[in-house]
Amino acid sequence: SKKPVRVAVTGAAGQIGYALLFRIASGEMLGKDQPVILQLLEIPDEKAQNALKGVIMELEDCAFPLLAGVEAHSDPMSAFKDTDYALLVGSRPRGPGMERAELLAVNGAIFTTQGKALNAVASRNVKVLVVGNPANTNAYIAMKSAPDLPRKNFTAMLRLDHNRAASQLAAKTGKPVASIEKLAVWGNHSPTMYADYRNATIDGQSVKALINDEQWNRETFLPTVGKRGAAIIAARGLSSAASAANAAIDHMRDWALGTNGKWVTMGIPSNGEYGIPKDVMFGYPVTCEGGEYKIVEGITIDEFSQECINKTLKELTDEQDGVKHLL
Ligand code: NAI
Repeated sequence: SKKPVRVAVTGAAGQIGYALLFRIASGEMLGKDQPVILQLLEIPDEKAQNALKGVIMELEDCAFPLLAGVEAHSDPMSAFKDTDYALLVGSRPRGPGMERAELLAVNGAIFTTQGKALNAVASRNVKVLVVGNPANTNAYIAMKSAPDLPRKNFTAMLRLDHNRAASQLAAKTGKPVASIEKLAVWGNHSPTMYADYRNATIDGQSVKALINDEQWNRETFLPTVGKRGAAIIAARGLSSAASAANAAIDHMRDWALGTNGKWVTMGIPSNGEYGIPKDVMFGYPVTCEGGEYKIVEGITIDEFSQECINKTLKELTDEQDGVKHLL
């Protein structure tokens, strides 16, 4: 049987953590033959640490055959020790009335500390996924704080946007969601993301031709996907958690185990592809194989797409400028 791998999860006692940990422990992320050791990080606050203890008791009570160990941590230097995978979920999302500078400063502190800890103690092959918002910029900060780790090891979660877009397209065309190929989401995990189905196919047929309604694309589809997070908060009174956890599982599973040629979306540091400046943590269509992702190349960018990409890029470079002084 396989040797256990170490999976660190931050914000482990939060909503997403509660929807995520049990699925990792059951083998849905890394395979039904891969034992895992969970290294869970929460803030030192007594309430958070107690909640974490409760979650660990429940993990124990599941008696998962693949769960080879669970650890509770309050310091990233111990939580990230030798970790092979790190899911950075805990962050400080923007609260009501919170100034942008304050948001960036608080997260700057969290993700520089965690990036440095990963740099110091994680496996040199660690695969890092940042879920906590602002996810792209937090991933950028962590990457910049970990100069001894390969840049490509740092990613941000755009998969929820990708899955939301796929679901909308399945509903619009009346086709099964699993039949959708070649969907791409470009840019920031924010309402500016550009979900692009120009190349998408269903059973080999063009989705764009099937829908044949550019007004729907611009006035219904893009706003629906872009504002889906807000719609969930309005309906549920809490932000999306189970769907976010599901997207994190999809992201890590595909990265680790491959996509068989299927396009998925990951936020990854640019190497200049599609004119995006180097290091910008940008949502790109990728395929994964052998534990590595590869950007889908050669996609034609028409005028409307370029406008959308410029807009989401501008937002990201502004965020990046806002944290420059923290790095
Ligand atoms: P939550 O508030 O229920 O849980 C967050 C947990 O993180 C809390 O238990 C908190 O104590 C912990 N935490 C805060 N700072 C920490 C630190 N420095 N180290 C370790 N733990 C820390 O929030 P929820 O709903 O679980 O969401 C987590 C994050 O994910 C939020 O930032 C949210 O905006 C983001 N999110 C991202 C999505 C995406 O698609 N990228 C989708 C949905 C949510």
